Amino acid sequence: MTTCEYRPGLEGVPATQSSISYVDGQTGILEYRGIGIEEIAQQSSFLETAYLLIWGGLPTQQELEAFEHEVQYHRRLKYRIRDMMKCFPESGHPMDALQACAAALGLFHSRRELDDPTYVQAAVVRLLAKIPTMVAAFKMMRKGNDPVQPRDDLGYAANFLYMLNEQNPDPLEARIFDVCLILHAEHTINASTFSAMVTASTLTDPYAVIASAVGTLAGPLHGGANEAVIDMLQEIGSIENVRPYVEARIVNREKIMGFGHRVYKVKDPRARVLQGLAEQLFDKVGRDAYYDIALELEQVIEEKLGHKGIYPNVDFYSGLVYRKLGIPTDLFTPIFAIARVAGWLAHWKEQIGKNRIFRPTQIYEGPHNQAYLPLEKRLQLWDKS
Ligand code: CMC
Repeated sequence: MTTCEYRPGLEGVPATQSSISYVDGQTGILEYRGIGIEEIAQQSSFLETAYLLIWGGLPTQQELEAFEHEVQYHRRLKYRIRDMMKCFPESGHPMDALQACAAALGLFHSRRELDDPTYVQAAVVRLLAKIPTMVAAFKMMRKGNDPVQPRDDLGYAANFLYMLNEQNPDPLEARIFDVCLILHAEHTINASTFSAMVTASTLTDPYAVIASAVGTLAGPLHGGANEAVIDMLQEIGSIENVRPYVEARIVNREKIMGFGHRVYKVKDPRARVLQGLAEQLFDKVGRDAYYDIALELEQVIEEKLGHKGIYPNVDFYSGLVYRKLGIPTDLFTPIFAIARVAGWLAHWKEQIGKNRIFRPTQIYEGPHNQAYLPLEKRLQLWDKS
């Protein structure tokens, strides 16, 4: 094999072959299993979308009902997981809590019979079912409250909103939230999915796979950006401040959160759908004060950075929807994780179906043949900062 050129961030380097999703970043196309995201967002539900991604095709009515029933049945958490959560610091970030809980789930199901379809199916169902319950439980328990038990008469999205504050969610709000989950469910080989695939390729258990992906999603350059967008809109504070804010960031070579994408060089198709959902929600419950700032920001950035292909990404409008639904800002990234579990599981299944362990190479830049200095002869030669 010939030595390949090193590309920081593996930009443009194919790391797998996949038939799960497709992105055309020049024209703004996203497809799940060949179906356009706009059509899925309009017609499907999150659980049906998860089924499509993981099992490779749309379910029949009977298959969908069986899948929904199984997921609903497994929503509750073991009391030992809840007990463990009681010890988490209330100031801890919910993504860290989620990562710990996902890994802990593996303690209860540590068999690794990856060639047994029953084991694979059970892991898929358990992870899809319990991750939302973990996020909602941490939200209640960090304030010293009991977690709200899942309700069997509510669908996936409605039940999650209910568990957040024990109030019946409005059907339109539940539908909008369900569509948000669809839009975040999968996005080819992004950082967290790659992380999931690398972990999967060691043939460890799926709970470790999801825990490692959650850890990767948490960073501000990935899933954490939706939270940072709200902080930024708050910091900007008014429409008049938008232009000076953008100009200062450009001069200081600082990133503007919720903009830019490694693949998209036009507005992210998910941002378009999310903006529509935000407007639908504002028509019903009133406009968000930050929305006008966001619109101005989008315009100024198009003017200043459009030539570099910097446009709103999925994280730009999602936070405004979640804020209007009354969801605390630090749950935005865990909600991204609730949705992305579907994509991670799809890639886990695809990876173990044709596995070869990931083991890339590196270009060594350090010295050779160095002497081993005895401790008493060592000087502090380098700055450790
Ligand atoms: N604001 C200002 N300039 C930007 C931005 C931005 N948000 N994003 C990219 N650029 C500029 C960057 O300064 C660079 O300019 P130049 O060529 O003059 O040095 C050029 O565009 C290329 O940037 P890059 O950092 O090399 O691009 P990348 O492909 O490595 O990074 C990104 C992609 C998403 C990490 C980056 O756009 C970014 O940091 N955005 C802000 C954080 C964000 O919104 N993240 C969510 C990403 S979408 C959802 C997800 O994946 O979770």
